[in-house]
Amino acid sequence: MEGREAFSFAGQGGTNTAIMKIAVVGTGYVGLVSGTCFAETGNRVSCVDIDQTKVDKLSNGAITIYEPGLEKLFQRNLKEGRLTFTTNLAEGIKDAQIIFLALPTPPGEDGSADLKYVLGVAKDLGKILQPEGYVVIVDKSTVPVGTADKVRAAVIAGALEASHTGSLDGAFDVVSNPEFLREGVAVDDFMKPDRVVIGSSTEKAAKVMGELYAPFVRQGNPIIYMDEKSAELTKYAANSFLATKITFMNEIARLCELLGADVDMVRKGIGSDERIGRRFLFPGIGYGGSCFPKDVQALAKSSAEVNYDFRILEAVMAVNEAQKAYIVPKITAYFGGDLTGKHFALWGLAFKPNTDDIREAPALYIIDALVAAGATVTAFDPEAMSNVKKEIGDKVVYAAGQYEALENADALIIATEWSEFRTPEFDKISSTLKNKTIFDGRNLFDLNQMKQLGYYYVSVGRAVVNPQ
Ligand SMILES: NC(=O)c1ccc[n+]([C@@H]2O[C@H](COP(=O)([O-])OP(=O)(O)OC[C@H]3O[C@@H](n4cnc5c(N)ncnc54)[C@H](O)[C@@H]3O)[C@@H](O)[C@H]2O)c1
Repeated sequence: MEGREAFSFAGQGGTNTAIMKIAVVGTGYVGLVSGTCFAETGNRVSCVDIDQTKVDKLSNGAITIYEPGLEKLFQRNLKEGRLTFTTNLAEGIKDAQIIFLALPTPPGEDGSADLKYVLGVAKDLGKILQPEGYVVIVDKSTVPVGTADKVRAAVIAGALEASHTGSLDGAFDVVSNPEFLREGVAVDDFMKPDRVVIGSSTEKAAKVMGELYAPFVRQGNPIIYMDEKSAELTKYAANSFLATKITFMNEIARLCELLGADVDMVRKGIGSDERIGRRFLFPGIGYGGSCFPKDVQALAKSSAEVNYDFRILEAVMAVNEAQKAYIVPKITAYFGGDLTGKHFALWGLAFKPNTDDIREAPALYIIDALVAAGATVTAFDPEAMSNVKKEIGDKVVYAAGQYEALENADALIIATEWSEFRTPEFDKISSTLKNKTIFDGRNLFDLNQMKQLGYYYVSVGRAVVNPQ
């Protein structure tokens, strides 16, 4: 095997012997959750971000993302002085035993993960790190195989550029510790992870990481030690597998519609097989979010770079693109092929419930398509409206509540499965909407109930209720 050998660490996480000083660079969804949770287990955490407004807000106790359960932990640790924020990298990493890089890795123009943030900060670290100390630099961002080596090289390049007198040999190790938290349940996922993956080629770094994570795996979930490349690939493999599972169900749903089967029944029928499992079998309007689209694309790109044609991934991406736009032709057909002057209520903007994250949200694709076809939209989302407003401004009207969104609308479209949309007051819906018409991209309602209530109801992979 080229590169470094896997370090095999026999313990299940070691013991958490001492409070650590940790720096987290990048204070977005992953950085803020990680930093707060590390502080919650007693560590002193300094979060670094280049965004001055964000740092000011966080320092003053104003949380910058919506994530259930995070606010309480954040306020407690801020008050106790275990959690601090700065824009100054040198100040943030001072005395740190571990430096996490929780930086963006957006898709570059060719679809590969853009490492400019990660490698830029790595180089800056090289300029600041002192030869006499020892620190573990951790890639927590989702990064392609080989990035740990690139981070090492960037740190050394930074040190050379700063003309350090001493070499940084032995002063740092680079570890890959991919993050598996899910937005919406990120705090729970972080505090009680299914597993922690640590890619390290040195015993010293693996031991430090094991000690840090020991309080998080008390219930016996594993810390899995491996080499850095395997750790890097594990993250992409996990996300690509999950995206494939969803996409497979979306194709089954399409087939159900054509063959007259019900995808809910098929889902239950296959999900009870424990080799398949019940989770991630819900069809919908395509996967979105900040991870799946870019990670599937980046893995396909990494494969192409080593001349491997990862055909499943190409199919997953193509099917998902088609799935995102799939509900709009159904709406158009219902309105006789012309949406000019039609007005729609849209429930749900976030890419999934319990988050305010709208990156690659299917709702945004639906809005674009409806507006391009001459329709207008009034939208409601419990948490994501201010983020959408920043992105698309007044392209839609923002409603004060889910029922207000229905006023004068020709139909209701559901794009996110927030729990308050699951059991709505149907009386209010029918008395406010112009037509009792619902296009549900998340299969929230029971077909029999919709039939009894007299709705024209279109969902995914199930029969149309009360067809015209
Ligand atoms: N969001 C998720 O659910 C999730 C889950 C697992 C892994 N990841 C991965 O974690 C990484 C971070 O994702 P995220 O969703 O937290 O991103 P994010 O965009 O929410 O946050 C990134 C933060 O980094 C800051 N930043 C950018 N350049 C910086 C610099 N030079 N110095 C300091 N701060 C800088 C930004 O201001 C921002 O606050 C990505 O690689 C992503 O793929 C994300």
